[in-house]
Amino acid sequence: MLAVGIDTRRVRLRISIFGCGYVGLVTGTCLSEIGHEVVCTDKDVDKIATLCQGGLPIFEPGLEELIARNVEAGRLSFTADMGEAVRFGDTIFICVGTPPLPNGNADLSAIDSVARLIAVESRSAKLVVEKSTVPMQTGGILKRALATYGRKFDHGFSVASNPEFLREGTAIRDFLHPDRIVLGVSDKWTENQLRDIYRPIVEQDFVCPIHEADCSETASPTVIVTSMNTAELIKHACNSFLALKISYANLIADICEGLRADVEEVVRAIALDPRIGPFFLSPGLGFGGFCLPKDLQAFIRLGETANVDMSLLREVETINRERIDHFVDKARPALWVLNGKRIGILGLAFKPGTDDIRFAPSLELIRRLRDEHAQVQVYDPQAMENTKALFPTIRYCDTPHQVAEGADALMIVTEWDQFKSLDWEMVRHLMSRPLIFDGRNLLNGDEMAALGFEYQGVGRPMERRSMTTPAEVKQ
Ligand code: UGA
Repeated sequence: MLAVGIDTRRVRLRISIFGCGYVGLVTGTCLSEIGHEVVCTDKDVDKIATLCQGGLPIFEPGLEELIARNVEAGRLSFTADMGEAVRFGDTIFICVGTPPLPNGNADLSAIDSVARLIAVESRSAKLVVEKSTVPMQTGGILKRALATYGRKFDHGFSVASNPEFLREGTAIRDFLHPDRIVLGVSDKWTENQLRDIYRPIVEQDFVCPIHEADCSETASPTVIVTSMNTAELIKHACNSFLALKISYANLIADICEGLRADVEEVVRAIALDPRIGPFFLSPGLGFGGFCLPKDLQAFIRLGETANVDMSLLREVETINRERIDHFVDKARPALWVLNGKRIGILGLAFKPGTDDIRFAPSLELIRRLRDEHAQVQVYDPQAMENTKALFPTIRYCDTPHQVAEGADALMIVTEWDQFKSLDWEMVRHLMSRPLIFDGRNLLNGDEMAALGFEYQGVGRPMERRSMTTPAEVKQ
């Protein structure tokens, strides 16, 4: 339940947001929640229509309620008129997509067209803040683009880089209680503008919708003021390090499988070393989503343009890419042939708490299984609609239990909490063969074996008793 109300004594700043994806919507909504006046726009008019009607084009926990409240309070609105959005804000946040090009570089065309629009439609000076993850030096290029496109008008644009560190699924919390706020600026005025925007968050001077006004447990964020180049690099370095940790955990998992050790125990022990820490060390099917894979790729390209040997991060990428091969290779001996086998997939989203399937491991897995003519049936609490657009012909089930019906194997691909508490006894009865490949180590292998399942997790020793070949099953 979200708490209601803001401190009305605060100065309201006028802010426009370009791009109503995960980053833009959360940024705009949270900035209105802390008291600013915000207008959001997007080139996708259908998205704006949905938002104007009170709908949400994405799933993000708590966001719909927060949008509704701020719209009602008159602090947040949506418009398809991008010129109007340009003129509204004294500060404009660019939160548009920067998808990877086939060569791995980030595609900056959306940023370029927003820059042109801002330059042409502005009627006054603006602070333009780049929040999308962009290659280094984009801030400088953006500054030059604004000056070039707007040379006839001479409004004077300031540019800043303010990378976001939001995680899908917990984005509102991450925005309102960040660990750090990075301000990449080239002058004091710009720094002060951004400090004013973020002041309520830095001073924790807002009624928190998550903690119902009691945020005493959460630390204030550190504000890091730096050059634009450094700010852009911080974002790349951060996401690439997270990717590196995950691939490292997956490497350890593979070694554990080969040498009959238990990765869960290894990780638990190494995580107790404060120099390593417990986060982003869960092995499994690897990292997906729109951020880690593409940012890693773009960072590799970036390093190479600076003549730096990026083979360390190339290996991180390779380990991640091979997770699905490895998973299917593990399933094959138990299933013998995949052709004609009914495989149930639990989880499609790239991680729990989101409907996002961009670069999700589930997609590659479905492709592989279909290539080998397996019959695929799937369930996800949020991501089915998005997946239907890519795979219209696989079977979409209404419940996880339906996925189990007649299945020769179940594959757990996203670690949604609800899968943990399924009636596994019933699942076993529904399956044609009680065989589970747990790609996220969601379940307890011993408990599953005790329930009569053949169970295989990631990087856990596989007891002979819990995994058989089809020939053994028949005996
Ligand atoms: C990531 C970063 O965590 C955010 O800080 C950043 O702001 C964001 O990218 C971005 O650049 O916009 P997000 O993509 O929402 O956030 O997802 P993560 O929580 O980082 O998870 C990424 C992937 O790694 C998921 O597929 C997840 O399943 C996987 N993962 C994560 C693991 O396989 N193991 C882990 O231990 C942790």
